[in-house]
Amino acid sequence: MSAQPAAVTVRVPAKVNVQLAVGAARPDGFHDLANVFLAVSLHDEVTATAADTLTITCTGPDADQVPLDRTNLAARAAEILAARAGIEPAVHLHIAKNIPVAGGMAGGSADGAAALLACDALWGLNTPRAELLDICAELGSDVPFSLVGGAALGTGRGELLTPVEAGTFHWVFAVADGGLSTPAVFREFDRLAEGRRIPEPEASPALLAALASGDADALGAELANDLQAAALSLRPQLARTLAAGVEGGALAALVSGSGPTTAFLVADQESAEKVAAALEASGTCRATRIASSPAQGATVLLS
Ligand code: C5P
Repeated sequence: MSAQPAAVTVRVPAKVNVQLAVGAARPDGFHDLANVFLAVSLHDEVTATAADTLTITCTGPDADQVPLDRTNLAARAAEILAARAGIEPAVHLHIAKNIPVAGGMAGGSADGAAALLACDALWGLNTPRAELLDICAELGSDVPFSLVGGAALGTGRGELLTPVEAGTFHWVFAVADGGLSTPAVFREFDRLAEGRRIPEPEASPALLAALASGDADALGAELANDLQAAALSLRPQLARTLAAGVEGGALAALVSGSGPTTAFLVADQESAEKVAAALEASGTCRATRIASSPAQGATVLLS
């Protein structure tokens, strides 16, 4: 074991899916995916400090919507890591929350990955990266990507990652009122798909080429989310948000993951500010956030 710090802070990015191809429901209830993840510069920070028992606190604009019990993925990460190491999960986890909650941007997954890395450093465990990734996959389908960041293709249920090349892109995100449950959106996908043959999910070569080229117009033409129809079916008013952003000058728009956050690809920072202003003026969202991609995965800041 290396020297143990008094506190460790980890910064972790949100994600947007530039392609989310969804296959038919598997016998285990999950869906096979071809999921092209991009980490974006919208971050939570998780600080781990030694404590008598496992506790969580949270600050930030949506802190009241964050569960502070053992259902929080940050708590589960600490418990799983401690159990593997044969120690007590005696840690206080503080989440400084900026990623929309239940918004389709992997905010809960991000906190799980960040807590795992923070506890690993706090407890001086030096757990091998491959083992950390296994724990992430146990925590949830999007958690491995939160650890890795950058740009990656996720297959299986999204947890099997292959890095992909990505240029720089600029984004505006429109935060909706309230969250959407990911299982409910997948159930709606299944309902809408009833009686149709669902093809095997595959990454689009044109999308991967556009991503690598850094050409925002090309990427805008290829953005695709198979969960979008399901999210819109559960939350029809999101169509107005998507339209408002495009009218405001976005190159393209889509629902982020299972929603209800909507993502707007824009040409540059100046355009981002205009689109964010147009979205706020439209009254079709609760707040906006400007970010760029790709962003680094979970990173230890202080120890
Ligand atoms: O893996 P995670 O716990 O984040 O998944 C939450 C829920 O989302 C699953 O219980 C399942 O209903 C749905 N899901 C799915 N297929 C995936 C990922 C998630 O059906 N590939």
